[in-house]
Amino acid sequence: MSKTLLITGGASGIGAETARQAATRGYRIAINYRTRDAQAKKVVADIEAKGGKAIALPGDMARDADIVRLFEETEKALGPITHLVNSAGSNGKRGRVDALDAAVISDLFAINVIGLMLCCREASRRMSTKNGGKGGVIVNVSSMAATLGGRLGSSAYAASKGAVDAFTKGFAREVAAEGIRANSLRPGMVLTEMTEGRLKDPAIRSSIEASIPMRRVGTSAEIAQAVLWLLSDESSFITGAMLDASGGGYII
Ligand SMILES: NC(=O)c1ccc[n+]([C@@H]2O[C@H](COP(=O)([O-])OP(=O)(O)OC[C@H]3O[C@@H](n4cnc5c(N)ncnc54)[C@H](OP(=O)(O)O)[C@@H]3O)[C@@H](O)[C@H]2O)c1
Repeated sequence: MSKTLLITGGASGIGAETARQAATRGYRIAINYRTRDAQAKKVVADIEAKGGKAIALPGDMARDADIVRLFEETEKALGPITHLVNSAGSNGKRGRVDALDAAVISDLFAINVIGLMLCCREASRRMSTKNGGKGGVIVNVSSMAATLGGRLGSSAYAASKGAVDAFTKGFAREVAAEGIRANSLRPGMVLTEMTEGRLKDPAIRSSIEASIPMRRVGTSAEIAQAVLWLLSDESSFITGAMLDASGGGYII
């Protein structure tokens, strides 16, 4: 079966690495990006240089209209979407609860939770065998923050990822008999543009690494491999699960 993979937030970090690795495994790739036009073009060029097929489509995954348009444009260009990775996400503004700001929390939940749910809606409408689709596989990129409430100052982010896990479990059960599998992948601390600012500080990096049983942060490549396994038939009996890719978790 030909495979078309749509990745939200696919111009950088975990999304971009998943795109690159998936292309070498025969997926046709659509990456969505919001502001990173040049990075998105580079991911597409890298994939094409290796003989793969990829396109890049702009869109704000916190906006319903953009999400609907993204799915329509992907299918127009590449055919039915068989696989979806929701990697677009923000870690918001770090801070203690007494400094929380309603607008900041709303923006965080708009992308990390509501946008992700709407992407699952669009995918399931198309993939469901109930609607004439051929089934499909979805991976939602959550976070280990969902398990322990996050590192100090990340409670809002942790709450958004907890919502991703709860939604994924419920959603997976709703569509399990319609040919769709959906799972959460929970990375621990991974070196990407989201975290490089903090990890650049040697003192912060060593205290973070000391809290991880494997004593190191992860790479986008390691997370992408786990995502690809969940997308593949090798995980064919797994749905509604949370897979931790975190070097053993962390101790706060
Ligand atoms: N790095 C870690 O340690 C870590 C750990 C656990 C979970 N995660 C999760 O992994 C996912 C990928 O993050 P990453 O580490 O690869 O960092 P990243 O390189 O910053 O990737 C996040 C991507 O999401 C995009 N994005 C954000 N808001 C968007 C929106 N409204 N519409 C479309 N795209 C949007 C960003 O693009 P713009 O900048 O253009 O908005 C960016 O390309 C996120 O969901 C993150 O929460 C990361």
